[in-house]
Amino acid sequence: MTAAPRGTSGRIIVALDLPDAARALDMVGRIGPACAFYKVGLELYTAEGPAVVKSLRDRGKDVFLDLKLHDIPNTVARATARAGELGVRFLTVHALGGAPMLEAAVGAAPSPMTILGVTVLTSLDASGLGTLFARRVDRVGAEAARLARMVRGTGAGGVVCAAGEAHLMREVLGRDAHVVTPGIRGAGQARHDQRRVRTAAEAFAAGATHIVVGRPVTTDPDPAAAFARIAAEGTPSTDRRYISDPAT
Ligand code: C5P
Repeated sequence: MTAAPRGTSGRIIVALDLPDAARALDMVGRIGPACAFYKVGLELYTAEGPAVVKSLRDRGKDVFLDLKLHDIPNTVARATARAGELGVRFLTVHALGGAPMLEAAVGAAPSPMTILGVTVLTSLDASGLGTLFARRVDRVGAEAARLARMVRGTGAGGVVCAAGEAHLMREVLGRDAHVVTPGIRGAGQARHDQRRVRTAAEAFAAGATHIVVGRPVTTDPDPAAAFARIAAEGTPSTDRRYISDPAT
């Protein structure tokens, strides 16, 4: 099995966007020991619940539970505490749930679980955001930065954002925050439904601490080789300024 270059593999999170635990765990086996971090999203969690998280933890994997929580603070705090009991490493909450909700999540998250804020969904453009906010929005990035400032004030550990916004998020959040970026593709690879993609190296150079990669690995006939290629491309040697926490 090809191991990912040192310092990189723990920063590449493979999205298990698969319909059931059997297929997800088969994929984990096929990728092998090089990948230590997996994202469980709404599809897999809805199908399998906490059992799939436990199965990943039993295999020694870190888990990013991407549930994008958005509810009253008490409900979010209680759900966060349950995720903490599962040993989840990253949990997402919507910044648009407001500061008290984010603070409730942060307060309920046991160490070393990190709460990540989702600022503006990439499916929303300026016009969609303007409709939501009932005011004119010129730049989505400015709104994302405004929400990231709020996220920072709540004590949350970082944000999920497009690689193109990683620089901006880094400016707002400072060097110790986690900046987690999906939308990663190898040079010349299929974009699928992603509109703005970056390579792993570009994302790390822009200030990402972690990248999320789904289909480029999980639809490859040899997912272990695909993962190793991305790990080799993404060695963050081009810019190590932001890699301040080797444990994650
Ligand atoms: O298959 P692909 O690499 O496009 O998967 C990216 C993963 O990151 C998916 O799980 C997707 O839901 C997630 N994501 C994203 N764009 C965002 C936020 C999350 O692609 N803005």
